Amino acid sequence: MSDNTHDSHTGPIKTPSQLLWTSFFSFVVPIFVIIGLVFYVTSDFKPAAGSDTSELATAVRIQRVGAVELQSGPKKLRDGAQAYAAQCAACHDAGLVGAPKFGDKAAWSARIGTGYDALLTSALKGKGAMGAQSGGSLTDFEVARALVHMANAAGGKFDEPVAPEAAK
Ligand code: HEC
Repeated sequence: MSDNTHDSHTGPIKTPSQLLWTSFFSFVVPIFVIIGLVFYVTSDFKPAAGSDTSELATAVRIQRVGAVELQSGPKKLRDGAQAYAAQCAACHDAGLVGAPKFGDKAAWSARIGTGYDALLTSALKGKGAMGAQSGGSLTDFEVARALVHMANAAGGKFDEPVAPEAAK
């Protein structure tokens, strides 16, 4: 009887080192197998570095992570040509999305006829496909300068806008 009881409590594991190996194979090894499987399954979605040469992938790789603009003293205002180049040329150079082209007198004459104030309001508040302020970092005064630069290049005779007091 006592032998029987003893037998029912013994398994294949008889020594401490067997116990150690058993725990190792039943817990640690499966974990590594699972990690390996996860890597295997997800490796499809990870193209090797540099192997995706599409324009977008390249652009994403070389894009600037952030931009810091240091500035001391009052901001240097752009003149009309600079402001135009910075923010209006994108559409107005080529006449994108229906924008009146730079220097295109036919496209501008009717608009110029509505007067400087009306055009400035359009440029500041947006019109049609053009966003307010054309969506960017110019001051109102710089937008006005860009507008005069563009309108006068297409036959307008607007005066150079006067700088607001604070900007002088
Ligand atoms: C996203 C493209 C885009 C950008 C950037 C853009 N414009 Fe325009 N702009 C347009 C389009 C489109 C029109 C025609 C809008 C309409 O008549 O429906 C227009 C029209 C104008 C007009 C005529 C408005 C009127 O009342 O007839 C002025 C003035 C003007 N833009 C000035 C500017 C200035 C100044 C800038 C830069 C600060 C600028 N635009 C940047 C697309 C753009």
